[in-house]
Amino acid sequence: MEHIELGWDEFWAYLFRVRHRRSIPGIQHYDNLVVDFCIEVLGLVEGDEVLDIACGAGDHSVLLAKKGFNVSGFDLSASLIKSAEELASENNVPVNFFTGDMREINFVQRFKGAVLLSHSFGFFNHEENRKVLEGTYNALVEGGKLLLDLMNPYNMPKFSKSWTKLKGGYLLSEPHFLDAPAGVLRGRPATFVDTEKGQIILMNQDALSNNDIRMYTALEIQDLIEEVGFSKVELFGANKLPRMPYAASSERMVVVATR
Ligand SMILES: C[S@@+](CC[C@H](N)C(=O)[O-])C[C@H]1O[C@@H](n2cnc3c(N)ncnc32)[C@H](O)[C@@H]1O
Repeated sequence: MEHIELGWDEFWAYLFRVRHRRSIPGIQHYDNLVVDFCIEVLGLVEGDEVLDIACGAGDHSVLLAKKGFNVSGFDLSASLIKSAEELASENNVPVNFFTGDMREINFVQRFKGAVLLSHSFGFFNHEENRKVLEGTYNALVEGGKLLLDLMNPYNMPKFSKSWTKLKGGYLLSEPHFLDAPAGVLRGRPATFVDTEKGQIILMNQDALSNNDIRMYTALEIQDLIEEVGFSKVELFGANKLPRMPYAASSERMVVVATR
């Protein structure tokens, strides 16, 4: 079999976020539960403007738009934004999708709610992570709310080496590695065996880097959020209803804060 290497955008973005994610059994039901949770804890009412930061392939943005919200969604990956636009048009809903970097959010007091879902926070160093929160703060109206849906650092998922069957091939995922002294979850190598094209697809250096996530504890994230001006920080232990208190054993660490 021929071996080829792909970069971050093609490998992670398309293979993982579109082909892999959309093949997970029950994922649409899960997304619906997450979206209903966001609507309730953010206190959104139909017609409100919502910002989906790092929206990936647009699955949550489109569900929010279908429920009557005015949604803007952006992601660093142009190929994911293209997939997101296709999804919105298949579902016949308007969503303002665009390509952008979460460190450069420049909206001014426009949104009632802003979400970063599926642990899309902590990709950078501390200062840049703070910049993401500052931009989000500026983008929210007074009383608007931010929601961060994060892994619980005290109850991390059990990562193991796994094979997943996808349309057109098999994905081999290596486990993540938790670098405890750095407080960072290091990205994992993965390989896709494309049985249709007869290719083994590997990640190049660009795809292997850029996958680290800083694992903030509840106290650390609360400090950071308050430093940028947010108030009333709330913590939940799940990203679906009913609202669950946050504890060491919680499945998620969801942080909600008000501008
Ligand atoms: C774990 S995925 C989550 C995607 C989506 N929110 C979901 O729940 O399916 C993280 C996303 O962050 C995006 N991303 C990474 N760095 C980014 C940046 N600097 N600015 C905006 N998006 C970024 C990736 O392209 C990817 O789509």
